[in-house]
Amino acid sequence: MKNFVIRTFRSDDEPDLIDLWRQCGLIVPWNNPETDIQRKLSTSPDLFYVGLLDDELIASCMAGYDGHRGWIYFLAVKSDYQRKGFASMLIDHAESELIKLGCPKVELMVRKTNENVISFYQSAGYDIDPVMVLSKRLTEDEPHDY
Ligand SMILES: CC(C)(COP(=O)(O)OP(=O)(O)OC[C@H]1O[C@@H](n2cnc3c(N)ncnc32)[C@H](O)[C@@H]1OP(=O)(O)O)[C@@H](O)C(=O)NCCC(=O)NCCS
Repeated sequence: MKNFVIRTFRSDDEPDLIDLWRQCGLIVPWNNPETDIQRKLSTSPDLFYVGLLDDELIASCMAGYDGHRGWIYFLAVKSDYQRKGFASMLIDHAESELIKLGCPKVELMVRKTNENVISFYQSAGYDIDPVMVLSKRLTEDEPHDY
């Protein structure tokens, strides 16, 4: 029986993590994944998780806490290992860590093109809020080939 472990991201996970994000459709032209990783490591590396089945990196979850709300990004599980409860374990772990920091509520964004994951989040207890997300780009990332 394989052993599933959740731990914080380490720099040598980067190639496997970017490959996971690429396979799961989480990489977009306007976000450079290497830059995304560096920004996370320079702010709150303790909230950046990977899931390993034996030694294989199969899952990820990036959490954040801004002092008011917690956030979840980059939740992903390799397609061969989906529907086995791994994302549920990662999100439970991230929520537990956010609670320890005093975070009262966690939020996340789902792209309109990815609405099929809503069922997963609803099964994990997340509701769709009647809000619109507004954003403004402050800097441009370097182009990438992923
Ligand atoms: C969303 C994702 C992380 C879910 O990972 P997972 O490990 O398969 O999820 P779990 O096995 O923990 O699912 C728990 C429950 O969520 C629901 N669920 C999960 N995936 C679902 C799907 N594709 N359709 C319907 N319900 C789903 C089910 O109720 C499931 O329980 P069940 O398998 O006993 O029926 C995975 O599909 C994924 O990596 N998708 C691509 C990346 C992505 O879009 N991430 C989200 C960005 S916002």
